[in-house]
Amino acid sequence: MNVQSADTRGSKAAAIKRKGRQPVDNSFPALKIALREWVVAEFMSARVLDVYGGYGLMYRQVWSRVSSSYEATDGDSLAWLQDRESLDYDLFDVDPYGSPFEALQIIAKRAIRNRIGLVCTDGCLRRQGTYRGNLPKVVEQTCGWGSENKALMASIYYNYPGHLRYLLRHLMPGWFIETLAVRYGKGGGKHTMAYFAFILKRVES
Ligand SMILES: C[S@@+](CC[C@H](N)C(=O)[O-])C[C@H]1O[C@@H](n2cnc3c(N)ncnc32)[C@H](O)[C@@H]1O
Repeated sequence: MNVQSADTRGSKAAAIKRKGRQPVDNSFPALKIALREWVVAEFMSARVLDVYGGYGLMYRQVWSRVSSSYEATDGDSLAWLQDRESLDYDLFDVDPYGSPFEALQIIAKRAIRNRIGLVCTDGCLRRQGTYRGNLPKVVEQTCGWGSENKALMASIYYNYPGHLRYLLRHLMPGWFIETLAVRYGKGGGKHTMAYFAFILKRVES
């Protein structure tokens, strides 16, 4: 898939802007900080790439203190990732308004370390499950999930962690999920936000 034209049907930011409101960058800062502190403690040294909205609150509250180096993308995040041949970082902060899954797909292909940590905000998957909306194309294609399958959408809503784990396994082949922390049901209409952090180990061939 051409990620630069990644489907944005599930974009939370777009939906919010259509209603004339501005998206909020950090609705649950304490939770976001806790997930980052949890993941960084798993690494001896942390070279961090901030994929969305670098040098913001998470930089000031966490990464500026605990990272051994910190870099942020510039311009469109997905294009920036796609333009890199390799991504030499220990930790990836993936904090978009909508779907983090397009970025995760690129990271899986470009990351060169054998063990990486990722911390994500998901304003998309459970949200679409809640409203029986449309899943992002990358999710439909990766899992063979159809947005018209209303039973599946309900299942995503009620068992978000199980579906997330399945999606990550298929979205990021070549990696093994060492550990995954998920917090969902936070904020918004019908509690649609989800936050998760996970550690991946490269599968030895
Ligand atoms: C939830 S906020 C990130 C908050 C930030 N990490 C912090 O610590 O405050 C999402 C950010 O991603 C940016 N963003 C959204 N889509 C983007 C894209 N396609 N390319 C680059 N930045 C994007 C928004 O402008 C916003 O700054």
